[in-house]
Amino acid sequence: MQLYSMTTKSMIRNALFLLPFFTVGRAQKGAVRDTSLGATAARKRMLAGQSKTSPPTKPPTSPPGPTTPGPSPLPPGPGPSGGGPKVAMAWISDQFANFDVAWNMSGVNQFKSCHNWLKNSGINVVSLAFLKPTEILDPSICASGICTDKGVRIGMPGAIEYFKGEGMNLVFLSIGGVSYTSFWEEVLVNNATAGDFATKVAAIAQFYQVGIEIDYEESASPNLAGLEHFVKTYRSIIPYNDTYWTPASFLTLDFGQGAQFMGPTANWVAKNAFNTDPAKRLLNWANAMVAGSSESRVTDLINRWNQHVNGYSTLQTHPIAPAYLVGSLWSSGRSVQDSCVNPNSPTLLDVRLVDYIKNVKPCVAPKVGCKAYLPAPTTQYTDGLLGYAFWMCGNIGPRQVNTCPIDTTIEIYGTSYPGNGDCTPGFRAANATYNIPRTVNWDSRKY
Ligand SMILES: *[C@@H]1O[C@H](CO)[C@@H](O)[C@H](O)[C@H]1NC(C)=O
Ligand SMILES: *[C@@H]1O[C@H](CO)[C@@H](O)[C@H](O)[C@H]1NC(C)=O
Ligand SMILES: *[C@@H]1O[C@H](CO)[C@@H](O)[C@H](O)[C@H]1NC(C)=O
Ligand SMILES: *[C@@H]1O[C@H](CO)[C@@H](O)[C@H](O)[C@H]1NC(C)=O
Repeated sequence: MQLYSMTTKSMIRNALFLLPFFTVGRAQKGAVRDTSLGATAARKRMLAGQSKTSPPTKPPTSPPGPTTPGPSPLPPGPGPSGGGPKVAMAWISDQFANFDVAWNMSGVNQFKSCHNWLKNSGINVVSLAFLKPTEILDPSICASGICTDKGVRIGMPGAIEYFKGEGMNLVFLSIGGVSYTSFWEEVLVNNATAGDFATKVAAIAQFYQVGIEIDYEESASPNLAGLEHFVKTYRSIIPYNDTYWTPASFLTLDFGQGAQFMGPTANWVAKNAFNTDPAKRLLNWANAMVAGSSESRVTDLINRWNQHVNGYSTLQTHPIAPAYLVGSLWSSGRSVQDSCVNPNSPTLLDVRLVDYIKNVKPCVAPKVGCKAYLPAPTTQYTDGLLGYAFWMCGNIGPRQVNTCPIDTTIEIYGTSYPGNGDCTPGFRAANATYNIPRTVNWDSRKY
C-alpha cells in the first residue's frame, strides 16, 4: 500500500519549508558552530575548561608510541529468521562540543560510568564520532600527544575495545562530520592524495578491526570523483565480501535525511554504491542522518526517507533499495528525546513508522511514486529498511545533553557530569518492537 506518495508540488513546498531545518541540523551536528548557549551548557563548558574558539595550533609532535591491535574478527553469528531490520546503531561522542580536544586522552572511564546500559538496550552497532581526515593523512599534524601513529585520537582505541567487550556486532569509526567538511576536501583534492588517504584509512580499519563510516557533508558540490577514487581504492585493499565479513569490510556513508541535503552524494550513492554484482558493490549501506533541531516527526521521517527509497524527481535523485538504508532519529539534542527515554515513544513506536521501517517496498514495478525502478533482477530486493540509528549518545556540548541514566554521572577526563536521561527504556522498547537481532548474520541479507 502506498500511503505516503507525495506530489511534486508538495515536495517542492516541503523542500522550501524545510530549508531552515536543514541549516539548523548542520549546525547541530557540528555543534561547535552554535553560539547561543544555554546557561547550563555554558557553565558545563566552563567546568570542562572548553573554549568556544579553537585553541591555537600546537606544534607537531613526535609520533606516539606503538598501539595494541584489536581482537580478531568476529565470526558470523546466527542470523534472524526472515527479514526485518537488523541494525540498531548509536553514534557515540566524547566532548562533542569541542572537536579539537575530543577523544584526546586514553582511558574509558566515561564509557564505564555511563554507557554500560547500551549493552542491555538492543543496540548492536556503535559508531564513534569523529576521526579528522587530515590527521589520518598526516598524523604529525595532531596536537601534542592526542593521536596514535595512525592518526586515530588516543581515546578511541580504548572505546573500541570497550564497546566490543559490551557485545556490539560492529564498531565503526566515523570520519568527518559537518565541522570537518573542509578537511575532507583536503584529502580528496586529487586522486593521488585520495588514494593515499584510502590506504591509510584501510590500515586503520584492519588494525583496529572496525568498520569505516564516511561522513563527508559537502551538500551542494561534493568532490565526487575524489570520493569515488577514495572508495574504490579502499575496496581494492579490502573488498566487499558477501560470503564472509570482517569488521574492516564494512564501509558506509552518511547522507541527508532526505535528498535535499547532500543530493549529489545521494545520487552518486544510488547509481554507484550498490551494484547488483557484489564484486562491484562499494558500500554496505548508507545512513540517512537526522535533520532539524532535535525533531523526529514521523511524517517528516517517512517523507524524507522516501526521497532515498523512491528517488526524488525534483533533484533527479535515483532510488536506492531500502535494505541499504539506515534511518536516524534524535535520541538527544537540547533535551533527551522521547525515542530515548520513553518506553512508549510516540515516534519510533508510531504504527506508521513501525510499518515503514519493517515493510517499505523497494522501487520495483508496479510501485507508484518511484522516480525510477531499481535494476533487475527484482527478486534480490527485500522490504523494509536495514535499520535505525540514534544521534547521539554520550556527551555533551552546548545545548546538548548527556544520554546517561539520571542516577549516574558521566566522567569526562576527570570532571563528572550528571546524566540527563536514561535511554534504556526507549531503546529497549524499540528493540522489542523491531525485533533487532543481538547478533547479525550479515551474509543472510538478501540484496
Ligand atoms: C583534552 O581535553 C581536556 C578537556 O577538554 C583538556 O582539559 C585537556 O587539556 C585536553 N588535552 C590535550 C592534550 O589536548
Ligand atoms: C580519479 O578517480 C576517479 C575514480 O576512480 C576516476 O573516475 C577519475 O577519472 C580519476 N581522475 C583522474 C584525473 O585521474
Ligand atoms: C570472501 O572471504 C572469503 C574468506 O576469506 C574468501 O574465500 C573469498 O574469496 C572472499 N571473497 C571476495 C569477493 O573477496
Ligand atoms: C532485543 O530483541 C531481541 C529480539 O527480539 C531479543 O532477543 C533481545 O533479548 C532484545 N534485547 C534486549 C536488550 O532487550
